[in-house]
Amino acid sequence: MVSRVIPVDPFDLVIFGATGDLARRKILPGLYRRYMAGQIPESSRIIGSARSEMDTAAFRTLVIEAVEEFVPEARRDAASMKAFAEHLHYVRVDATGENGWPELAGMMRDGVVRAFYFSVAPSLFGALAERLHHFGVTSPEARIVVEKPFGRDLETARALNATLAEHFAESQIYRIDHYLGKETVQNLMAVRFANILFEPLWNARHVDHVQITVAETVGVGGRGQYYDKSGAMRDMVQNHMMQLLCLIAMEPPYHFDPDAVRDEKLKVIRALQPVDADDIVRGQYRAGGKKGGGEPSYAEDVEDPATRTESYIALKTQIANWRWKGTPFYLRTGKKLRARTSEIAIVFKEVPHSIFGDEEGWRENVLVIRLQPNEGMNLKVMIKEPGPGGMRLVQVPLDMSFAEALGEDGADIPDAYERLIMDVIRGNQTLFMRGDEVEAAWAWTDPIIAGWEARGDRPKGYDPGSSGPEDALMLLHRDGRRWREICE
Ligand code: BG6
Repeated sequence: MVSRVIPVDPFDLVIFGATGDLARRKILPGLYRRYMAGQIPESSRIIGSARSEMDTAAFRTLVIEAVEEFVPEARRDAASMKAFAEHLHYVRVDATGENGWPELAGMMRDGVVRAFYFSVAPSLFGALAERLHHFGVTSPEARIVVEKPFGRDLETARALNATLAEHFAESQIYRIDHYLGKETVQNLMAVRFANILFEPLWNARHVDHVQITVAETVGVGGRGQYYDKSGAMRDMVQNHMMQLLCLIAMEPPYHFDPDAVRDEKLKVIRALQPVDADDIVRGQYRAGGKKGGGEPSYAEDVEDPATRTESYIALKTQIANWRWKGTPFYLRTGKKLRARTSEIAIVFKEVPHSIFGDEEGWRENVLVIRLQPNEGMNLKVMIKEPGPGGMRLVQVPLDMSFAEALGEDGADIPDAYERLIMDVIRGNQTLFMRGDEVEAAWAWTDPIIAGWEARGDRPKGYDPGSSGPEDALMLLHRDGRRWREICE
């Protein structure tokens, strides 16, 4: 199978924060990969911008080094890196002052797509939006791309939406949630809405419960300053996990169209029930490490012995609508866990009547959608255990690895950022969050956080390399269920 590269119009993409970590790791290497795929039109320019004193030649060197570091050797070569670098330019701009803006404005061209990527601290979003406008850098069709975190609660998210709205229409604002750019996350929609097989079963009559797991092996590392003010709830649940939940739970949109999809997601968020204190377990990793020592605890990582921020959270939530009433959704995510794995498991109900009697081997059907690593799907079904001597049942997986099923195309799945940046250039907002969606997500999150703050809850300790705090097991046990193993 040969993947189709859909051409995009020529563009000028300005990256604010172009020397920062996200740009170096994801955005610039991603653009190189798109260049290799033939998707960067000849006359397009990528204009790096930051506070650092640097010229275009130095910026090109920095980008080439980033590509060498973050693109596998087999997928790059010196000649194309050099040719790619021809598209790169650098302008020093002061986000909160006046320096550099007239020069940037002078570089803008008519007749090409104009996009501005805010890969900077959220405190600068407003200043950038204002200056783009004030110095005439923007145009009515220009697009801005805004990174997370989008606010830290409903109030700050509303304020940010209002600030951006002073200078840009909603159709110009692309709020990134990189989970939506992941291949398998989009596949959720294909699986649900391009197959007749699942939809009739996709409701509370047939689904016992849903588990969403995003487990990481890394700790907070050098991001302690940011992370300690967020915690797993704000860092992962309010955005990434919420998006996954929406794609599983939403009604079929009438069309694969940005507002149709986002309208349906919004309805799910609004139908989410408040979460009881008993239905939340927060955790914090202890010192230790896989080989029994050496690695700092969460409190040491963030350099605050009294911190109460969670590096792990598990919770049970319900969706109050006709489709899902009575089917709990269990969410968990954490750092320094046993394995890096993200998956969604749809656990189906028992058959209404077993013709085999109380068959011991019986297990429920489970559809597992693996987001990473090893993207794919696995449907667990019951069959007869081979051999004579009666009817014994055994569960077997119908396992599909996308990499294997799709051959070479599957082995080279574009990174989430690559796809999302190209969607910005194309002007397709389907995989970006709308302002009202983000606000609704905070409206659900805020009371949960306020609740544990008012109770003065402390997160439970858990060992690095474990599955999280023991109490998280109880969340399912007391409902007669159990978490799936966290393993790669
Ligand atoms: C980011 C969070 O948004 O997502 C990080 O801020 C987290 O804390 C990361 O590690 C996980 O992304 P991925 O793509 O590695 O699953």
